[in-house]
Amino acid sequence: MMTDKMEKALNEQINEELFSSYLYLAMSAWFELQNLPGFASWMKVQAGEEHAHAMKFFDFIHERRGTVTLKAIKEPAKEWKSPLAAFEAAFGHEQHITGRINDLMNRALAEKDHATAEMLQWFVKEQVEEEASADRIVQMLKMAAGGPGALLMLDHQLGERK
Ligand code: FEO
Repeated sequence: MMTDKMEKALNEQINEELFSSYLYLAMSAWFELQNLPGFASWMKVQAGEEHAHAMKFFDFIHERRGTVTLKAIKEPAKEWKSPLAAFEAAFGHEQHITGRINDLMNRALAEKDHATAEMLQWFVKEQVEEEASADRIVQMLKMAAGGPGALLMLDHQLGERK
């Protein structure tokens, strides 16, 4: 059995992951409006991954015979100044999520809740990838420096993400 505090913290993480999904879906919609379908598609795939992250917590709580409590998801931003600004926001958001995962791990270790700590290991690794992939695109957008040719090439490249 998990402690009540751990159950509450894992439920809050479901909300964080669903918000992440919502945020990236909002970015996908904004990229569609900018006529950048590759960026839009990349963000839509990312939104799906975030939903899957939420489901990992959802399933884990049930496996531990806990109770899932779903709260309202806050409204994401609707627009960004540029593709670079959107990806900088995505990178900043992933750093925030990494902090949340680390807090959960600290709690699991403090409570000697080895089952939760083991489940969270997957997220610790995942966050390294999540931050790296957002940061890589931030760096590529900086190199493109708003040039339309480079931006269209990057759009094509990001559109290949499945
Ligand atoms: Fe679920 Fe992108 O962290």
